[in-house]
Amino acid sequence: MSSSNAQREEQAWETYAQSYDLILPILPYYQKVVRYHVDALSIPDVRTVIDVGAGTGNVAVELIARGVRVTAVDVSPQMLSVLRKKTWASSSGGIEIVEQDAQSLSAWPDESFDGANVLLSLFAMHEPRQAFLEIMRVVRRGGKVAITETKRNFQLRPLLDFVEEFLALHPSREELREHWDRVKSANLVLDPGFRINRLTVEEIQHELSASGFTIMSVMDSHLGQCATICATKNLGS
Ligand SMILES: C[S@@+](CC[C@H](N)C(=O)[O-])C[C@H]1O[C@@H](n2cnc3c(N)ncnc32)[C@H](O)[C@@H]1O
Repeated sequence: MSSSNAQREEQAWETYAQSYDLILPILPYYQKVVRYHVDALSIPDVRTVIDVGAGTGNVAVELIARGVRVTAVDVSPQMLSVLRKKTWASSSGGIEIVEQDAQSLSAWPDESFDGANVLLSLFAMHEPRQAFLEIMRVVRRGGKVAITETKRNFQLRPLLDFVEEFLALHPSREELREHWDRVKSANLVLDPGFRINRLTVEEIQHELSASGFTIMSVMDSHLGQCATICATKNLGS
């Protein structure tokens, strides 16, 4: 990737971070996908979770509230700064925040975690296959993964149109306008549909099955543009 593209992407995450938590958590499809992930990972035998591309930590904070210890890994200092503020007072013992590229998780030995949370972060990586192998490696046998990624035929436009219509009817639409403009501009820079190395959810499902995971469920998300896979790493793998 050219350095100007890398810079554009870095700026997009910076822009995104300013308004992410003012827009995403009010959108029904985002609320629903966060719920899928939290439900999949807040079960009795999951006590530690690596959150890969944790961002502002909307899944992480819910998991911590349910007693799960979360290691939140993200490359963006601005996204993590929002997460730090959210968890500062309430849960200092429940979270470790690590600012680094998640394409290598070499800081963690094999089978370090009971679970992995990956909610739309692989699409943003330049070597998503490498990151995905790392995620499968650091989850213990019997552990769980919850992964939401884009479908092969992903299109950004239906999502943008939905949000425009949703916000037009929202009581705080005037105050939300500048935040939506930021989120939208970041989305256009980062559009998964144009990413060369994208790892689709179909490929992820296939790869999990071929790598000793049992698929527990696959559910559409993001108005059918994405899907969430929940899988368990087989004891014998
Ligand atoms: C669309 S956001 C999703 C954030 C969060 N998972 C959520 O569901 O709200 C994608 C996140 O992936 C992070 N990310 C992108 N590339 C990354 C990389 N190579 N390593 C770690 N995190 C990365 C971004 O900084 C961003 O916070």
